[in-house]
Amino acid sequence: MSKSDKKKSRYVIGVDIGGTGIKGGIVDLKKGKLVGDRVRIDTPRPAAPEPVADVVAKIVEELTARADAPDRESPVGVTFPGIIQHGVARSAANVDKSWIDFGINEYFTEHLGRPVEVINDADAAGLAEVRYGAGKGVDGTVLVITLGTGIGSAFVFDGQLVPNAELGHLEIDGFDAETKASAVARERDGIGWEDYSLRLQRYFSHVEFLFSPELFIVGGGISKRADEYLPLLKLRTPIIPAELKNEAGIVGAALQVAIHHKLTK
Ligand code: BGC
Repeated sequence: MSKSDKKKSRYVIGVDIGGTGIKGGIVDLKKGKLVGDRVRIDTPRPAAPEPVADVVAKIVEELTARADAPDRESPVGVTFPGIIQHGVARSAANVDKSWIDFGINEYFTEHLGRPVEVINDADAAGLAEVRYGAGKGVDGTVLVITLGTGIGSAFVFDGQLVPNAELGHLEIDGFDAETKASAVARERDGIGWEDYSLRLQRYFSHVEFLFSPELFIVGGGISKRADEYLPLLKLRTPIIPAELKNEAGIVGAALQVAIHHKLTK
């Protein structure tokens, strides 16, 4: 195997389906980093299965045309912002409801003409953070909470993901938590960091009480502004920002499919 072939064998394509953009990249699984730039296309409206699959196919095609790309037949990992059980979407809180009970793995595999495996977006971010980022080497329960359009969560124990923990939908004070404490809820309600941190305090204290984790990792777009609100929180659990920032979903999607196909451990 030549040096470049050897390198390529650890490269896997990952795609992250978000509410506003669909982003893809070639992931180097040894480093947990993207090789080259990511490709981003606006999420189509409505974000229904067919138009979304078209965009995913376009991104994968563009990446596959690169010199560094893995083989055309190699598996692709994709994230989705809802519950994914056995390749079927089971919820769609912030996306088109036509995804519910839709066989997403099968549909994308047919559409792309190569194996595709879909994973919940926060689960992907969680896997990436514990393997390569802020949760590396931490034993016990690590909770990765993403603050974005909704609240996503990944429950990881001793490095193993317990999939589909939907902690963004805990009912707190009579509300679905993500409708009060997501990044979008802060913008929608026009509140400052101090008021937002009060909402986060209520949320994280409750989650801490339920699970007593070793570590909280906060992801999503506003993890970039963590200095504004994390120091205001009083918890017994350490709480730190994610390290992979907006690449976590892409990296985690690639990692997940690579583990399933035994391309990596
Ligand atoms: C969904 C989760 C998702 C999160 C972040 C929530 O509304 O229920 O599955 O991970 O949003 O996108």
